[in-house]
Amino acid sequence: MELLLVGIGTGNPEHLTLQAIRALNRADLVLVPRKGADKADLAELRRAIVAEVVTNPATTIAEFDMPVRDPDNPSYLARVNDWHDAIAARWAEAIAEHPGAATVALLVWGDPSLYDSTLRIAARLPGCDVTVVPGLMSPQVLAAAHGIPLNDLGAPFLVTTGRRLRDTGWPAGIDTLVVMLDGDCAFQTLDPGDVTIWWGAYVGMTQQIIDHGPLAEAGPRIVAGRAAAQAAHGWIMDIYLLRRGHA
Ligand SMILES: C[S@@+](CC[C@H](N)C(=O)[O-])C[C@H]1O[C@@H](n2cnc3c(N)ncnc32)[C@H](O)[C@@H]1O
Repeated sequence: MELLLVGIGTGNPEHLTLQAIRALNRADLVLVPRKGADKADLAELRRAIVAEVVTNPATTIAEFDMPVRDPDNPSYLARVNDWHDAIAARWAEAIAEHPGAATVALLVWGDPSLYDSTLRIAARLPGCDVTVVPGLMSPQVLAAAHGIPLNDLGAPFLVTTGRRLRDTGWPAGIDTLVVMLDGDCAFQTLDPGDVTIWWGAYVGMTQQIIDHGPLAEAGPRIVAGRAAAQAAHGWIMDIYLLRRGHA
């Protein structure tokens, strides 16, 4: 069986590449996860994308329920590993219900290579060949929304998480950070000094909000704007770029 992991970009159906659209249309089965009442699961959006781009009448769309993480397991790694085992089992069950499906596709938010476990879960399925179709990543969409380059001239940048920034501070030797997976505005733990922030929520989507400026001024504004947007929409996904030496 061929398993197509199709990067879909960050929530705008226009982010799908021609390669992604062709991959979805050559799949016998497209699996769409359902995570219950949580608005942040974006199942509705995935359904809309599939409805818009899958035109092959031979392609079957099947939804499956995502398992929930065991909150009682004290080890974070064990908890995540068990959860990935459970997701792989759900995929296997859903695929087994369609015995004729030789090509199965899954829609992956952004790109499968960046802060995403779909490839690790796919590796648990025996006897399947994985094909990755790359998608637009959220750092690219953030940079496009602000019209900025990710890197300074000839300089590196580092992509990290809010948790790491909060726990270990600004990494040595790098002046540009892209911070993802941050529910707590970890930039508040930094000395704002000569730091500039370029922030975006729902980047690429119709709800997109962006803000930028010196961290000392823009930081508190972003914290308040983020809370208001989360309250209004019931969920939020945000990302930001921090650069030193540009204030
Ligand atoms: C589990 S990671 C998935 C990243 C994804 N694979 C990618 O290529 O961008 C989720 C994080 O990506 C970022 N993200 C993804 N989509 C976003 C969007 N539309 N707007 C803002 N941030 C987004 C947020 O930092 C979010 O916490």
